[in-house]
Amino acid sequence: MKKVFGVIGDPIAHSMSPVMHEAAFEAAGFDGAYHKFHVSPERLKDAMTGIRGLGLGGVNVTIPHKVTVMDYLDEIDPLAEKIGAVNTVVNENERLIGYNTDGEGFYTGLEPLLPKPVESMRVLIIGAGGAARAVAMTLAEHGAGELYITNRTEPKAAELAKACRSYVDTRSLTLTLAQARLTEFDLIINTTSVGMSPDTDRIPISLEMLGKRSVVCDLIYHPLETRFLAQSKKQGALTQNGLSMFVNQGALAFERWTNERAPREAMRQRVIQELGG
Ligand code: ATR
Repeated sequence: MKKVFGVIGDPIAHSMSPVMHEAAFEAAGFDGAYHKFHVSPERLKDAMTGIRGLGLGGVNVTIPHKVTVMDYLDEIDPLAEKIGAVNTVVNENERLIGYNTDGEGFYTGLEPLLPKPVESMRVLIIGAGGAARAVAMTLAEHGAGELYITNRTEPKAAELAKACRSYVDTRSLTLTLAQARLTEFDLIINTTSVGMSPDTDRIPISLEMLGKRSVVCDLIYHPLETRFLAQSKKQGALTQNGLSMFVNQGALAFERWTNERAPREAMRQRVIQELGG
C-alpha cells in the first residue's frame, strides 16, 4: 500500500519538499506520496496525533514548528536534542521519533570540499538562529577545532556560543570584529537570510579581508549563487551554496523513512528545475 509522508509548516505554500520527495520516490521506485500540510501552531498537537491515527510514514517539520513539535514526540534523537529542534519525524509503529537532518545535511555536502580536517579548522558562523544552531552543533559533533559566532543582534551570538561551549571551543564576536579578522577563518558560513531573493544585492559581511584559502558557504539556495558567494569565489575561495544542504537534509529524511539509499541526483535535478535553473 502507498505510504504517505508530508511536510507541516505555516506558511507552507512555497515549500519545495513535495516536488523533491516525489522525484525521490519515483527515481527509487518507492510507492510513496508526499503532501504539504498547512498546520497552524494551535493545531500542531492535533496534527501530530493525526500522524498516528492516519498511519502516515512520517513528516518533515518546518517553520514555526521545529522546536515546539518536540513536546509531542515519543523519542528524540541525541543530535536533535543537542540542536534543540526537529525537522524530521518517523512514525515507527505509532511511536513518533524526532530527528534533525539539517546539520548533517549541511555537513555531508561540505565534507568532500574541505582542504584539511575539520579538527584543525577555525570556523566563523554568521547568524545565531535555528539554522546556525543546527550547523554549530553538527560541526561540534564532528570535532570542529574552534567556532566563532557573529550576529546582527550580539546577545544572541553570545547565547549560542555559550550553548556550544560544552562541546567545542566557541566564542562570539561583533560583526565589525569578524569583518576585520576574516582572514583568520578557514571556513565561513552564512546562516542568515541576507542575500536571499528578492534582496539579492545584500551581503551578510564585508569580504575585504577574506583569505584566499577559505571555504565559504551560504545556506541560501534561492538564488543558487548569492552575491556573497560570487564575490568570495572571485577572491579565490572555495564556495558551496545551500542546495546541497537542502537536498541532503531531504535525502537523510528519505533514508530514515524508507531504509533505502536516497536518489540524491534526481532530487537535486528536480529542485534545480523548480528553481528555474
Ligand atoms: P533560521 O531558522 O533560518 O536560522 P531564525 O531562527 O529566525 O531563522 O534566524 C535568522 C537569523 O538571520 C538570525 O541570526 C537573524 O539575526 P538577528 O538575530 O539579529 O535577528 C539573521 N537575520 C535575519 N534577517 C537579517 C538581516 N536583515 N540582517 C542581518 N541578519 C539577519
